[in-house]
Amino acid sequence: MRNVTEDNITDTFLGYFGKDTDPRVREIMDSLARHLHAFARETRLTHDEWRAGLELLRETGRITTPQRDEFVLLSDVLGLSSLVDMIHSPEVGTSSSVLGPFHVSNPPEYPMGADLRGDFGGDIVLVSGRVLDTEGNGIPAATLDIWQTAPNGLYASQDPDQDEFSFHAKFTADNDGSYRFTTVKPVPYTVPTDGPVGKILNATGRHPWRPSHLHYIVEAAGFTPLVTEVFPNDDEYLDQDTVFGVRDDLVMRYESQPAGSFPAEGLELSGKVDGPWEQVDFDIILVRQ
Ligand code: BEZ
Ligand code: FE
Repeated sequence: MRNVTEDNITDTFLGYFGKDTDPRVREIMDSLARHLHAFARETRLTHDEWRAGLELLRETGRITTPQRDEFVLLSDVLGLSSLVDMIHSPEVGTSSSVLGPFHVSNPPEYPMGADLRGDFGGDIVLVSGRVLDTEGNGIPAATLDIWQTAPNGLYASQDPDQDEFSFHAKFTADNDGSYRFTTVKPVPYTVPTDGPVGKILNATGRHPWRPSHLHYIVEAAGFTPLVTEVFPNDDEYLDQDTVFGVRDDLVMRYESQPAGSFPAEGLELSGKVDGPWEQVDFDIILVRQ
């Protein structure tokens, strides 16, 4: 095309593809160009705004390190990570939710019933449940990779005062798929705001808070691995999670339990808890591959 215009540039772009272009690459680039061009036309994007957008991407690259991926965070606060998740979530089984940037590989393996509080102490929550198939049968030897922030709202990798694996643990479920451990009730926390993502949140009058949650990756042979989170039903940010991770079936009630009622066996803290404690049950349904 010699005379490229505002009206024909999109079709011109699509016409430049080579005939051997992989069909999926063609489909994605075709759609990307159509939406990107439509966005510029619709907003009458100015040169200054275009430059500011490019600078934002440059800054995102500059601040990204192996420990901190600002591109993932950008995708999270734009809702793209959650949308991709939802598009590929099976209609049955427990909903998936965002992985986030704070998962660590090879967390320490703990015996069932372990206490994750370490030196932090704090109010005790007993987290228990079963890993089930879609017919309600327990899945033996499912693994559960669990992580959360310390009571100060920081993940171990953000906090030089915590051990590398504090509040990161891996469990293997019992033969009937059941699991249990104790920890502290998770707290709401903010996503990092000292980079370009913080600028976007600020410019659009958005807060950076996530409702409190426990992260899970649940895996078992023959089943699709599940990345998810469980949220307490009394969290003030449930309806405005800045990364759009909340789903109805992931919101659970934390029940207060009276002093003297802590299970006498089966937990690291059995026989050591005199005061009140809380309990949350979260069953996880995996889908066969
Ligand atoms: C998280 O839950 O760990 C998280 C998810 C998305 C962005 C930042 C943090
Ligand atoms: Fe998190």
